[in-house]
Amino acid sequence: MQFWKPGTTAPGSSLDRATESEGALLQSAPVSTTFISLQEQRERLPIFKYKQQLLYAIETYGVTIVVAETGSGKTTQLPQYLYEAGWAANGNVIACTQPRRVAATSVATRVAQEVGSLLGDEVGYTIRFEDASDKERTRIKYMTDGMLFRETMVDPLLSKYSVIMIDEAHERSLYTDLLLGVLKKIRRKRPSLRLIISSATLDASMFLDYFSSSPPQPFEATVLNIPGRMYPVEIAYLSEPAEDYVREAVRVVWNLHMQGGGKSVEGDVLVFLTGREEIERALYEFSELLPTLPPNAPRLNVLALHAGLSTADQLQVFQPSERGTRKVVISTNIAEASVTIDGIRFVVDSGFVKMRMFNPTTSLASLVTQPISFSSATQRAGRAGRTAPGICYRLYPPSAMDTMPKSTSPEITRVDLTTPILQLKALGIDDLMKFEWVSAPPAESVLRALEALVNAGMLGREDARLTDIGAKVAEVPVDIGAARMLWSSKEFKCGEEILTIAAMVAVQDVFVIPDGAPGAMAELERRKFTTEEGDHLTLLNVYNAFIKFGKSSRWCSSHALSFRALSRAVSIRAQLKKYMSRFDIPTESCQGDSQRLRRCLVSGMWRNGAKWVADGTYRSVRGNVTLHVHPTSVLFTRKPRSGWVVFHEMEETKKTQIRVLTEIEPDWLLEYGHKYLDKHAGEGRT
Ligand code: CDP
Ligand code: MG
Repeated sequence: MQFWKPGTTAPGSSLDRATESEGALLQSAPVSTTFISLQEQRERLPIFKYKQQLLYAIETYGVTIVVAETGSGKTTQLPQYLYEAGWAANGNVIACTQPRRVAATSVATRVAQEVGSLLGDEVGYTIRFEDASDKERTRIKYMTDGMLFRETMVDPLLSKYSVIMIDEAHERSLYTDLLLGVLKKIRRKRPSLRLIISSATLDASMFLDYFSSSPPQPFEATVLNIPGRMYPVEIAYLSEPAEDYVREAVRVVWNLHMQGGGKSVEGDVLVFLTGREEIERALYEFSELLPTLPPNAPRLNVLALHAGLSTADQLQVFQPSERGTRKVVISTNIAEASVTIDGIRFVVDSGFVKMRMFNPTTSLASLVTQPISFSSATQRAGRAGRTAPGICYRLYPPSAMDTMPKSTSPEITRVDLTTPILQLKALGIDDLMKFEWVSAPPAESVLRALEALVNAGMLGREDARLTDIGAKVAEVPVDIGAARMLWSSKEFKCGEEILTIAAMVAVQDVFVIPDGAPGAMAELERRKFTTEEGDHLTLLNVYNAFIKFGKSSRWCSSHALSFRALSRAVSIRAQLKKYMSRFDIPTESCQGDSQRLRRCLVSGMWRNGAKWVADGTYRSVRGNVTLHVHPTSVLFTRKPRSGWVVFHEMEETKKTQIRVLTEIEPDWLLEYGHKYLDKHAGEGRT
């Protein structure tokens, strides 16, 4: 398949749009190199010239909306300016929220370096199940938006923060939206609190309207636009959509590298795929190509960037390339705006992204791979023009631009709201109609969530107010299904095992693929832990073996297991155990009684029940959806004896796949579900 570049050959309206987005990229200032001091680097960032203006705005206005291109220095610099200007005096803390964990940790690491602090000292971060901050000493705290939202349950006015920066607000993540609503309320009670809303795209008017309204106050909100520094980016399209965009992406990078024997072009490459599996497949394809690289050609250093990596591996992608080596970073959407990698001159855009979705009719939540929005495509292309003129290769035809949505829909409009609504209730927000949503979620999702919470005994049936158990569950940092299992473990006497399973499903990517070779070896290793009941108990075996063999990293690598993921599971388990003892739930062992354990699993996951059908697929109990078993499941090739399973997660690519399955008896589903399964839900049963 050949690329062609607009303006040279093809006609069509999408071309004009492409040129338009290029037109917005203007050329200016010099490029920073890595051989200058951190201080100099800081002063070269576009935001630096606006320091006084920013500080003035924040001093004067309650809410300052900062709009600047990605890479301008918003995330790393703004909190430091505030710190230097004294906003963290008298025990105050400056918070900066991120929708993504990886962004929170990598940015905190960078800023700690710039400030000259140890990570977790003056500069720290807090993400779920991981706290690298100090109660007394931390002045600048990077955190996920979900963690700050959780903090409002303990400290409703967030009184220790003088300034809260809601970063990447344009992304409209679920907890960013919820926080904005809560912060607007907090500011009425505590006007000294300053908010910064920072966004990479130009749609600031919506945030301004949101904060300026009802009743209008003087000096409530202002917008500051900071012009970025951008070089022109040429855009190339495929003439038709790539059949396999992973393979196509690898091919494009390879050809680009081999042009003129690899010598004619300089600059690193950033490839956008949708998730870890695709990234690993691309790495594998590269590992097969690399040995064919002519000896005199420049080297290729291919790196992955996704949330499942260790912090050290994540930081590798920020290392500047060595001379004579081209760096290729294969990333999820995280590199679209959350993090900036210097030196990128080529972008390869698959045109797809993985997103959380919830279908209120079937009450099934899933991860869906779908086409990106127009603004994402523009943002991705822009990543090629930060340090020099660049090229963006879009693995789709220009006509695809016409059918893309203008921007990505706010997460709150498309996810399961059960846990967030429980949390809002715990914050004392009883009347959801009166809550000032930035974008109101669909009424059906709200109703479904309320219904689920009432049925689970977490809200009162009459008044929809928080019950005692609801209040406790809201505190636990897991979804309500997992919380339900922890509570039911008292009844089934299996707290010991349920704790482990809850921790293991909270970490992802326990099984690793050694050296990029997919399949065989990892599969063989996985089998050693396999139980015929399914994946949850297999995970339990893995965890127990990890403990038995002294939590050794060598043991992990010889069994194709991720030491990092398992260590995280140990820490998560310890944290969940604290909640259990606080709520008087014993951690007894079921002594190998897998039936008790699986019934306990069903108490939390009955919504995700499915029945095996003759062609080897499953049908969901809710919604009667056709489900395929993910190849990593121990039930991939085997029919469960009872024909029934519950599953942890659902993912939609070309087909709908379920992962982490456990065989169950259908009666168990009815025990929990019968009261709640509505008439549509019964259709999947026979
Ligand atoms: O938030 P915004 O996109 O405006 O920019 P930033 O994340 O504050 O990044 C400013 C600069 O810091 C960029 O040139 C990044 O390349 C650099 N940076 C880095 O070198 N390493 C990191 N871990 C984070 C940022
Ligand atoms: Mg940023």
